[in-house]
Amino acid sequence: MINLATVGTGWITESFIEAAKLSEKYKLTGVYSRTAEKAQKLADTYGAENIFTDIEEMAKSPEIEVVYIASPNSVHFEQALTFLKNKKHVICEKPIFSNTAELEEAYRTADENGVYLFEAIRNIHTPNFRILKEKLPLAGKIRSTILPYVQYSSRYDLVLQGEEPNIFSTKYSGGALVDLGVYPLYVAAGLFGEPKKVTYHPVVLQTGVDGSGTLVLEYDEFICTILCSKISHSVSPCEIHGEKGTFVLENAAPISEIKFYDSHTKEREIFSVPQKDKDMVYECINIAEILKTKNQIEYEKLKELSKIVLRITEEARKQNNIIFAVEK
Ligand SMILES: NC(=O)c1ccc[n+]([C@@H]2O[C@H](COP(=O)([O-])OP(=O)(O)OC[C@H]3O[C@@H](n4cnc5c(N)ncnc54)[C@H](OP(=O)(O)O)[C@@H]3O)[C@@H](O)[C@H]2O)c1
Repeated sequence: MINLATVGTGWITESFIEAAKLSEKYKLTGVYSRTAEKAQKLADTYGAENIFTDIEEMAKSPEIEVVYIASPNSVHFEQALTFLKNKKHVICEKPIFSNTAELEEAYRTADENGVYLFEAIRNIHTPNFRILKEKLPLAGKIRSTILPYVQYSSRYDLVLQGEEPNIFSTKYSGGALVDLGVYPLYVAAGLFGEPKKVTYHPVVLQTGVDGSGTLVLEYDEFICTILCSKISHSVSPCEIHGEKGTFVLENAAPISEIKFYDSHTKEREIFSVPQKDKDMVYECINIAEILKTKNQIEYEKLKELSKIVLRITEEARKQNNIIFAVEK
């Protein structure tokens, strides 16, 4: 069992704790909140022995091996660095950090301290993503791809009322691309690698971040279009069009269904397998395995994906003068 502690008390932290429990690889030993009452409530619900309201103190606890961070995006870096410097592995929620400079510094710190740093991104660890990767050659030469993650956020209602919730704020490194676009971006980077050119066409809100946008990734022989939005809703699936066939994914995350249409026979095949509702369990299992076996090859693959995704979102923001507060 790996001794786990958590930062943040939102619903996603509870989801992660439940997935970690389901994986049977972790023991929850501590929880952090800025307020003792919230930490105690979470600790009582999930049976953690220690509560913390001080990150430095938590980072020094000998009972913690890995820390899961689910605070607002702009806070990830400072918190992660504190844990890495104290030789704790870190699993940090997506988007891992605000920019690539932070990412490089954090990986350097992890290496210097002999620990690992992971971005918590649920879709690429799932059985269905693996199946998609394996079956992709059936589509033949890829000619176009469209990957939407377009989901109306109730927090946009607050923006319309003049408020600035964290995820719509430059102060907390928010916006549609870094919040939702990262899921299809991980699919694209995981399947096709780094694009040779990136162009982003956002709808920038009065808060300064992108409420929605169209991201164009240019690969050698095709374009991958990613649609992301927190201010509108889509019911369109993801599609990967090849000369021999088309893959249709119900969503970029979770990848619950994968259909393949053969261009010539017109036959349809379903490749996906049923996945656990708590699909974070797969990232919990994979990360635990890497930690246990010190699997440097798999770790480097994940690092490379995080780097590609963050390079793209940073470039996309720069093109449109979307600057986070930590960059000012
Ligand atoms: N993987 C997924 O499916 C998924 C889903 C949702 C969110 N996320 C990611 O999880 C992270 C948290 O998202 P969220 O919507 O829960 O964010 P949030 O509500 O803004 O904040 C999460 C927690 O961080 C703490 N916090 C709030 N403001 C803070 C501040 N200014 N400084 C330090 N800590 C603060 C709070 O815990 P305390 O008050 O207890 O300290 C809060 O519960 C984000 O990075 C998001 O992208 C991932």
